[in-house]
Order: sequence, then structure tokens, then C-alpha cells
Amino acid sequence: MMRGGQSGEQRRIPMAAAPLFHLVDPNGIDRALLDDLCALTTRVRTLAKHPDGARFLLGLLPDRRAMLYFVQPSTRTFLSFSNACHILGIRTSEIRDASTSSEVKGESFEDSIRTFSSYVDVIVMRTPEAGQAARAAALMNRIPRPVPIINAGSGRDHHPTPALLDIYTLERSFEDRGGIDGKVIGMMGDLRRGRTVRSLCHLLQNYRGVRLVFIAPPQYAMGDDVKAHLRNSGIPWVDDARLADVIGDLDALYVTRMQTEWDTDGDATRIDYADYGVGPANVGHLKPDAVIMHPLPRGPEIHPSIDDDPRAMYWRQERNGMWMRVAILLKIFQADRFVHEVDLDALTRN
Ligand code: NCD
Repeated sequence: MMRGGQSGEQRRIPMAAAPLFHLVDPNGIDRALLDDLCALTTRVRTLAKHPDGARFLLGLLPDRRAMLYFVQPSTRTFLSFSNACHILGIRTSEIRDASTSSEVKGESFEDSIRTFSSYVDVIVMRTPEAGQAARAAALMNRIPRPVPIINAGSGRDHHPTPALLDIYTLERSFEDRGGIDGKVIGMMGDLRRGRTVRSLCHLLQNYRGVRLVFIAPPQYAMGDDVKAHLRNSGIPWVDDARLADVIGDLDALYVTRMQTEWDTDGDATRIDYADYGVGPANVGHLKPDAVIMHPLPRGPEIHPSIDDDPRAMYWRQERNGMWMRVAILLKIFQADRFVHEVDLDALTRN
């Protein structure tokens, strides 16, 4: 394990955050943990750019195995978790279709999860039903050989890892402007069923002076449960905003797609994207230093021409997701201190 002294700039190891075991929802993630994960993500990114740094990362967790249990469609979350594991030397097994697991023979969800846990050291799971990651974590807490559960999307409920990569992307975007504190963040689209914005609202309670602006068709307004949480945390929000009225006030515009897969009547397909989209007609009204984010995949709500706008952060956001997931795995396996302690200058000098 490489360690050593380092320059003053890189010596700023953040305040020790509490250890992380399960990552099921954003509740309980405090500012110390967020700052720690963000600092870790930046160090991982820097290390990975250099061949010696990449080899150092690869040697950190070669004795660990991960189960990627993704029985709901996924491109980014699956690939970024899979690659995050491989960056750290973690070997992976996967189930991507429930019809290939013994669940089709009637095995219960609990027995399936317990079985996975027999072979691996962490389970990353995406399921169509809300609350299943919490059920898996509760099961782990009852058995003699528990392994950590990472929620990679549970129904319309929560998706904590995009919220973490969103925090990282926002902090990075605003690093010369005091970070997320004090920023006005607009969230637009299907806020009721979009799990990433729901989780992000929970994490934003850790920042001072943040204001939220919700821009959504009335039937897809942000859920009352999230609003109750914001109220308890003292985070002000504006509901029912029209993009045209608020666009010039926003520091970040977080756009989401209509979650049509949950539609029962095709209602979301009838949304007018002129009111809930960004394109050449309205992007000029955004502040010059604002950022445009999207958890992806996108639909018509962001015109492809916006990709070339320097304010478009969604491709960077996507890549940040892989680095943040490396940081999460390091934290869960308590290997983060090796990354905090490594002499970055010496390792990346040549
Ligand atoms: C999100 C998801 O799966 O909830 N995507 C992702 O994690 N990259 C957002 C979405 O599907 O709209």
C-alpha cells in the first residue's frame, strides 16, 4: 500500500465522517460525509488519470467481490458501478434479469438476497419496487454474515448515488463561488416520480441558504413527503414556477425526463416541452455561469444543441458518477484512508 507525506495543498484531509455500511436512502448522510466523499472523489479522479495512480487504485480492493443485482433497466448506473468496482480491483457478478434467477422458481426476495450475500462482500441493487433496498438492508442486519447494501434505484422512491454525484457536480461547478451554499437550484420535469431529484432534495438540506424552485406539470409536482422534509429542514422552495419567469434567477437548472414507464394513461407523453424543456429558444436567459444538469437518459426536454453550451454539465455529471461510486465503495470498505493518505504529488509527478 503506497502512503507518504504530501504537499500542504493536498494535506487537507476532511473531518473524519462516520463509517458507511448500507447506502439505502439519503437520510442520515450529513455534511461531514458529503465533504469527505467529494474530497475522495476528486483524489480518485486525479489518481486515475495517471498510470501509477490507476495501478494504486487497482490494488486497493482485489480481495473483495460485488454482486450487481439490476432487475430494472439501467445503462449508466450499472456501467458506472461495474467500472467503479473494476477500478478498485473488485470482481463482480451480475443478475440483470429476474427471469434468470431462482425467483422464477418461487424463491422469496429475502432468500435470493441472502443467497447473493453468501458469495460476495457487497450487493448493489436496482429494483422496480420502492423499499426493496431497505428490506434487503433490514435482512442483512438480522443475519450473521451481513454485507452492505447499496441502493442503485428502488422504484420511484430513492436513488441516493445520483444525488451524491449531483452534489459533487454542483460543488465542483461552484467551487470558485462558495460551493452549493446560498445557491438557487431549479428542478424541472417529472418531480413526483423522478427518484434522483427526490434524493437530491434530501441531501441539499446539508447546505446553508439553498433555495429550491420546482417547475413541474401540476400532476407531476414534487411529492408532499419531500416537501415535508424540506419544511422540517428549513429549506425554502417555490412551487408551480414557470420556467420563463424564473430562468434568469437560477444558479443551476436540474432537468428531468417524464417517467413515462410509470404512466397508466399515457398522460406524460402529452406534456408540452416548451414549458418544461431547455433549447435554443430559452437557454439565452440562463445566467452565464449557471449550470444545466440532467440525470440522463434524456428525452426531448434538453435539445441536443445544448450539449455544446459550456453550461451543460450532464456529460460531466455522468462521468462524475463513476468516480463518486469509487469513493462510495472505498468508504464502505474503509479503504478511503489509503487514498486520503497517498502522496498524490509523488505518485503523479512522472
Ligand atoms: C435515473 C433513474 O434511473 O432513476 N437515471 C440514472 O440513474 N442515470 C433517472 C431516470 O431514469 O430518469
